[in-house]
Amino acid sequence: MDREEAYRKITDLLQELEEHNYKYYVLHQPEISDYDFDMKLRELEKLEADFPEFADPFSPTQRVGSDLSKAFEQVEHRYPMLSLSNAYSEEEIRDFDNRIKKLIGDGFEYVCELKFDGSSISLLYEQGKLVRAVTRGDGVKGDDVTANVKTIRSVPMKLRGNGYPDSFEIRGEIVMPMHVFEELNKQREESGEALFANPRNAAAGTLKMQNPSIVASRKLDAYFFSVMGEKLPEDGHYQNLRKAAGWGFKVSEAMKLCRNLDEVYAYLNKWDLERHKIPAGTDGVVIKVNSQQLQEELGFTAKSPRWAVAYKFKAESAATVLKSVTYQVGRTGAVTPVANLDPVQIAGTVVKRASLHNSDIIKKLDLHLNDTVFVEKGGEIIPKITGVKADMRHPMAKPVQFIDKCPECNTPLVRTEGEAAHYCPNDMGCPPQIKGKIEHFVSRRAMDIDGLGQETIESLYNHGLVKGIADLFTLKKEQLTELERMGDKSAQRILDGLEESKKAPFERVLYALGIRYVGETVAKKLAMEVFSIDNLKLKSKEELEEINEIGERIAESVVEYLSEPGHLEMIEFLKEQGLHFQISEEKISNRTDKLKGLSIVISGTFENHSRDELKQLIEQNGGKNVGSISKKTSYILAGENMGPSKLEKAEQLGVPIISEVDFMKMIEV
Ligand code: IVH
Repeated sequence: MDREEAYRKITDLLQELEEHNYKYYVLHQPEISDYDFDMKLRELEKLEADFPEFADPFSPTQRVGSDLSKAFEQVEHRYPMLSLSNAYSEEEIRDFDNRIKKLIGDGFEYVCELKFDGSSISLLYEQGKLVRAVTRGDGVKGDDVTANVKTIRSVPMKLRGNGYPDSFEIRGEIVMPMHVFEELNKQREESGEALFANPRNAAAGTLKMQNPSIVASRKLDAYFFSVMGEKLPEDGHYQNLRKAAGWGFKVSEAMKLCRNLDEVYAYLNKWDLERHKIPAGTDGVVIKVNSQQLQEELGFTAKSPRWAVAYKFKAESAATVLKSVTYQVGRTGAVTPVANLDPVQIAGTVVKRASLHNSDIIKKLDLHLNDTVFVEKGGEIIPKITGVKADMRHPMAKPVQFIDKCPECNTPLVRTEGEAAHYCPNDMGCPPQIKGKIEHFVSRRAMDIDGLGQETIESLYNHGLVKGIADLFTLKKEQLTELERMGDKSAQRILDGLEESKKAPFERVLYALGIRYVGETVAKKLAMEVFSIDNLKLKSKEELEEINEIGERIAESVVEYLSEPGHLEMIEFLKEQGLHFQISEEKISNRTDKLKGLSIVISGTFENHSRDELKQLIEQNGGKNVGSISKKTSYILAGENMGPSKLEKAEQLGVPIISEVDFMKMIEV
């Protein structure tokens, strides 16, 4: 390769990897597999080594990806949190073993552990109590997510037994068990929110949420794999972890001491086959030198320890034939292409269908009918097509063309700029959208109407009894009892449920309408800000965007929904039926304008209120709670342990600092 070509390749790879890095760590929405990312990173590393004159100090090869986010206090790690070098074959493990033997000779032991696929965490314990939990961040400093980590039941707040050092750190992985992930995505689908691609992203995204009570509801779990400190009880890493298990930490039973490479290979093969048996996702095995003294001797390279390596399992994949592409229309009108395949065995299950996500992916794969395609079942539960064997394509094969009309109602599809999905805009006339919207309306978190399952709704729709949400409230008992398997009692239960739903508060009704991007939290926020649907109708997109946490996408969707005459007519009808379209007097009377126009940063811990309560008080009194300090910040509401970096910044910018008592005085009646 000549210099010019190398330069071009390096700059391309830099840009591409930075982009993937951002999608992975900041958006938690990766677009390529870890394997592909690593291969590209290796390619860049090699080019930078061959052409050092083009090596950029800010290259992704020079750092571990950052997950720092602005809203959390940042804390420096006592020991940097590095990453591991990866190996993809037994040969690469042998190279690792040879490198070690050259440095320390023979006669040492390895520990093999599963590599849990979640989000790294470092916990500090002092005198047996959990003091702090910090994410990896950029490896040097991370986000203080203690409040969120405390919600994880398997993380001990106080240690059991004895023999633990006065002060030590323990590192591990926060994971989301597969069944929790599946349930969460189901709920997100119901509220029209973007799905998490895999449990790892769901765990990482959850850990960074601002509201610990939502974190608590997500049922995260944590496995621990390194104890660090000055006075550890044992020299062996394995032995220290066994001790930690006795102190109350979750340490995987799969951990094993191995005396030689053959035992290591046996472990890799066993877990390659059995990895699906454990509830938390794992994407490989970590092999470590057991003795911590030897670990110290071996030391670190710039990015990773020399005493450990991560062996990555190959995502299980198979080749099969693409028979057809069909299109599914969801509740919000999003159209998802689905590949129908010749059935093929992957990872112990028969795969017949794979998601194609959107039209861009079809284009990128240059998919043709009857193509031989590679299907992969990785960390994601839905298998995906990762490639096409173009050389096996029939010369006359037809390219897959994304549809331009709705497969259900024939309405021309629309695509908003900047969005990947196509939508069917006919939300009041397209059957799966109507049925999906009714299902959402009656669901537990929305209007919570008993007795109206998917089948009943299907049947009501097919009999022409309901053509939309409003029709539910015109149903008569004799119409219901005419349906198959519907007795007098069941019909009465539905009617009672409908009557009862008239008591639901405005925020639930707003959520139940199923406006795209208006999930439970957004509905609550909007209800508290505007009080009534009539006020909401008057708001422009720009005015809505001024509300904290309401972005352009949500604002646009709300304005669009409320400009549709059919929707307005339905809302008027529901109002006449007695549904609440404004918040209660009681909630309104708690609101004031005392903090109008003020932006307030909350920092530290407080004696009488949780941070969440303070946030609510700020908003209830017309103020805005912001995450980071800037020139525009009006006050910093500081409790104990305010971070030193925040203090410094506040002083620099001259932002006044107020205490919890000062704050309560400001909002006093
Ligand atoms: S040991 C110097 N052991 O993988 C890093 N890491 O790429 C020592 N991970 O950030 C880490 N399971 O979050 C270790 N059994 C295990 C692990 C594990 C998952 C994660 C960890 C780390 C990343 C390294």
